[in-house]
Amino acid sequence: MDAPRFETVPIHLADRNYCIAIGSGLLDSPHSYDDIADAASALIVTNATIAPLYAHRLQHAVSSKFREIHTLVLPDGEQFKTWPTLNLIFDALLQNGCDRKTVLFALGGGVVGDMTGFAAASYMRGVPFVQIPTSLLAQVDSSVGGKTGINHPLGKNMIGAFYQPLKVLCDLELLKTLPQRELSAGLAEVIKYGPIADLALLDWIEGHIGALLAGDPAALAHVVKRSCEIKAWVVGQDEKESGLRAILNFGHTFGHAIEAGLGYGHWLHGEAVACGMVMAAQLSLRLGLVDAELVRRLTRLLERAGLPVRGPRLAEGDNAGRYLELMRMDKKSQGGELRFVLIDGAARAAVRAAPQALVREVIDACCR
Ligand code: NAD
Ligand code: GLY
Repeated sequence: MDAPRFETVPIHLADRNYCIAIGSGLLDSPHSYDDIADAASALIVTNATIAPLYAHRLQHAVSSKFREIHTLVLPDGEQFKTWPTLNLIFDALLQNGCDRKTVLFALGGGVVGDMTGFAAASYMRGVPFVQIPTSLLAQVDSSVGGKTGINHPLGKNMIGAFYQPLKVLCDLELLKTLPQRELSAGLAEVIKYGPIADLALLDWIEGHIGALLAGDPAALAHVVKRSCEIKAWVVGQDEKESGLRAILNFGHTFGHAIEAGLGYGHWLHGEAVACGMVMAAQLSLRLGLVDAELVRRLTRLLERAGLPVRGPRLAEGDNAGRYLELMRMDKKSQGGELRFVLIDGAARAAVRAAPQALVREVIDACCR
């Protein structure tokens, strides 16, 4: 079989570089795995939705590299991004006698990717793993940059590790089976890169939103590549989030509160981030950092992408108080002080504290 054509986006880190390969037909081609060392065993971690679509194809493609290939099928959903589900990965690794050379393949969306990466980071203190993201969100964000982990009932992604994959394979053909709601959720993270890093990308998405929503391969290829380039650029400067990398969390402080407050899985991660970006943009506006026109454009684009722009109520009485309580768990908060990723009108974002009264005002204005 000839190698499929693909583009690569390199990630340059202090102690290692790796590549994101972006193309069509990558999953099935044995050449996609040429640079992975042969080993006695591999474990494909996937979920109940993805397994019947793609697991056997991956198994076939890597069959000559490993003596034994095991497949673990996890339950599907954000509500399963937990310790008990993570433990199923360790069970499978131990029961199958997997060793330090065993390669883990994360075949799925961000939930499978984050959990498999965390298992790879901690099994025998670290085994190699490959990200094969199957959702748009995972191709443009979660599979890239080495953040891995699980949720805690009190806070989203609170337990985890930075641990980089050997490589990331973004096969655009896999997006053909992605449900429409999930495509929209992925677009939230694509749109995110506009106000924080690249206003030209925002213009481009505005002009191509119809094609993106229709799953046009060329349009999707463009945004996957540009998103990965931006993420690689940020992660290359600040792998462990001592500063700059936090800008990738634009909208996430409000968004994570929505996810935890409603119960994981009610709103999709991308939906919560979309709404969170509107809230963070409104906060930026009230602090005089950005003009109303950019906030309007962002809100309108998210709406056109089929995403929610008004927040859910998280409590009957003091709704804003409940948001604030949940947001205090955010990893950016320091000494109880809330900090947000805020935007200006020139594609620069920064983490700043904001007066609580103003945050309340935004929540009240933005919630149903
Ligand atoms: P997900 O993993 O739940 O996948 C979305 C849904 O689409 C699932 O039901 C999945 O089974 C299905 N699906 C995925 N690919 C499919 C395909 N090709 N065909 C048919 N169905 C498919 O969610 P997600 O949106 O991919 O990822 C969200 C998660 O990623 C959240 O847990 C979030 O915290 C995490 N995340 C992590 C990072 C990071 O840097 N590590 C960044 C952003 C988000
Ligand atoms: N998605 C946020 C990050 O990777 O830092």
